Amino acid sequence: MICGCFILILSRFRQAVTIPVMVQPDTPRNSSLVPRPSVFEEAEACLRAPDPDTKLQLTREVSAAWRAGALSCEFGSEAVGLSEPGRPARPELVAPRDLPARSTASEVGRAALIHSICHIEFNAINLAWDAVYRFRDLPEAYYTDWIKVAREEAYHFSLLRAHLRHLGYDYGDFPAHNGLWEMCLQTAHDPLVRMALVPRVLEARGLDVTPGIMYKLEQSEDANAVDLLRIIQRDEVGHVAIGTRWFRYLCEQRSLAPEATFRELFNQYMPGGGRGPLDRASRLQAGFTEAELDYIEGAG
Ligand SMILES: [Fe+2]
Ligand SMILES: [Fe+2]
Repeated sequence: MICGCFILILSRFRQAVTIPVMVQPDTPRNSSLVPRPSVFEEAEACLRAPDPDTKLQLTREVSAAWRAGALSCEFGSEAVGLSEPGRPARPELVAPRDLPARSTASEVGRAALIHSICHIEFNAINLAWDAVYRFRDLPEAYYTDWIKVAREEAYHFSLLRAHLRHLGYDYGDFPAHNGLWEMCLQTAHDPLVRMALVPRVLEARGLDVTPGIMYKLEQSEDANAVDLLRIIQRDEVGHVAIGTRWFRYLCEQRSLAPEATFRELFNQYMPGGGRGPLDRASRLQAGFTEAELDYIEGAG
């Protein structure tokens, strides 16, 4: 809920400052009478925050400020590329092949599985803020969409972390890999490539595998985790749909054919092709065409 007047606490990890921002509910978004903080600076603060609780709090505050019209899209300079986002010292990051395989029949195996999804959600918060911070001069609706994604990823992370704590563990207790952020860097040069590869390949892959994970957890009688994954799956369809929306927008701006462009990018960045069966129903809901799905299934 957005209050008419609130204090926007910009608790930066580098400098603890509190800046009161008076927000009038009927302030026009483009009013030049009152200088507003830049959404890009706020996104950068969220991205750089290493402590998970600080990142979640900033994400909620910046999202509320955006919805209240208290942030500006104006920018004086281009984004400075971040090679590393803010993240805590743990989990230890290792190569995917060095992650131990564990059965979900054991409690520690289930905790490791929840931890791996929790880590994906933590990265997804950074990826959403990076999509805001890095790509400027896009329509306001683009920022509204990606700030919504950041808010929902923060919610997913908080749900899974609470469940992990309930199981007797915490975020950071298991090693993890850095694949999501690496794709973020590979696609940092172009929002069209980012929209194709991050939401429409990596997040879409989550749509395929989540039902199988839910089944495993159901067999292990972890009903709570199944409920959380159901919420996450619903929201993730929306995130992939947002990727589809902006991928198509950018194709249209550049007079590119979306299906052919997606195929080219998929080939270029995912030489291994698709891995495993697709959840076609969820992907169609998220805006994929049948032809795109046939192509992904046939690739690799
Ligand atoms: Fe998520
Ligand atoms: Fe997502």
